[in-house]
This record gives sequence, C-alpha cells and structure tokens, in this order.
Amino acid sequence: TVGNSTNICWQETMVSRGDKEVLLGQRGCVLWFTGLSGSGKSTVACTLEHLLHERGHLTSLLDGDNIRHGLNKDLGFSAADRTENIRRIGEVAILFKDTGAVTMTSFISPYRADREMVRQRCQPGEFLEVFMNIPLEVCEARDPKGLYKKARAGLIKNFTGIDDPYEAPLAPELVIDCYDDEGQPRSPLAMAQQILHTLED
Ligand code: PPS
Repeated sequence: TVGNSTNICWQETMVSRGDKEVLLGQRGCVLWFTGLSGSGKSTVACTLEHLLHERGHLTSLLDGDNIRHGLNKDLGFSAADRTENIRRIGEVAILFKDTGAVTMTSFISPYRADREMVRQRCQPGEFLEVFMNIPLEVCEARDPKGLYKKARAGLIKNFTGIDDPYEAPLAPELVIDCYDDEGQPRSPLAMAQQILHTLED
C-alpha cells in the first residue's frame, strides 16, 4: 500500500535520468527560494532563469501566484493548505529536476518542516535552499501588491510575517542579503549573479 492506493508498483522506464542529463549537458537540481511576500523571490528567480537560459541551460520556474491560478487553485493560506501547496510543488519540482532541468521554485514556503520534506525527497546536493534574507520592514515598505497594508488593516487574515509565522531556514545553501558590504541596496541582477556563481562552482 502506498498512501491511499493499493496494488500499485513502481514502473521502471527505458530512458534514465542520466541519459537525459547527457543529452542536455547539465545536471538537474532544485533551487528552492523561500522568503517573505515582497522579498523578491520571483524577481530574482526570473532574472536567474534568464541568465541560465542565455548560457544554454534548460530551466523551469514554478512561481507562487501562477501555480495558485492552476494546479493549486483549490488551496488557501491555512497551515494545512500551505503544507499541501508546498508538497505538490515539491513533487512537481522533482519531476522537472529528474528531466534534467535547473528547476526554480518561488514560494513563501513558511514552514521549515515542509521545505525539509522536499529536501528529503531529493538526492544529496540536488536541493539548494535559497533564503531571501530581507527583513519584514523592507518587504512591508516595498509592499508591491498593497497586501501588507491590507493585512495591517485586518482585511487579510493569516498574512505571513504579520499574523502568521515565517520560519527562516537554519542552514540554507544560499543566503541572499538585500544590502551589500557598503550598506547599499543590491539589485535583483546582483542577487541572481551570486546564485549563478554558486551554481557554477
Ligand atoms: S505559501 O505560504 O508558500 O503557501 O504561499 P505562496 O503559494 O508562495 O503564495 C504567496 C502569495 O500569495 C499572496 N497571498 C498571501 N501571502 C501570504 N499570506 C497570505 N495570507 C496571503 N494571501 C495572499 C501573496 O501575493 C504572495 O505572493 P508573494 O509573491 O510571495 O508576494
């Protein structure tokens, strides 16, 4: 028995993941962006995808708002729904990764246990957690969609960072800070290049 199903077995395929990676000349991996709303997850992931594409890599980008229009449109923002959101995204990301794509996901993914669950489903080294380390004050000042304002006014309940938790990663592979060593704000391009250099290493 697997989950709620009985009498199912794993079907082996004839074209392996390795065969696909040889075809593409790259290794599949999951770059898991996590951070508050307005922290720049989507912007940096989009910029990184562009940089990778220019360099001839097959990429895939799963983005929070887009996935909630389709695959996960039945889910809201309760703790259970967020967990299910991340579980499904994780499984989809793994499918793309196993086809050899550099797969990026940009979801708040506020719970450590949920992110850890996806990591455990990947082979060692294939899951890279990218923490957008942008303080709440900065995200709230940006407020690109006006959602923090609504949350402060009580018009949105359970908004991450306001009246819902965000559990920052304890040991992310990458930490993206919003200020450089001189205290100047960093551009999305600078952040994407930081990730690109780590991937190249
Ligand atoms: S989660 O927590 O990972 O399941 O969230 P995610 O799928 O990334 O969706 C986050 C986007 O949904 C909008 N939104 C909210 N965010 C947080 N809390 C609440 N209650 C909420 N309601 C709507 C918001 O635009 C998030 O987009 P980003 O791109 O993160 O700003």
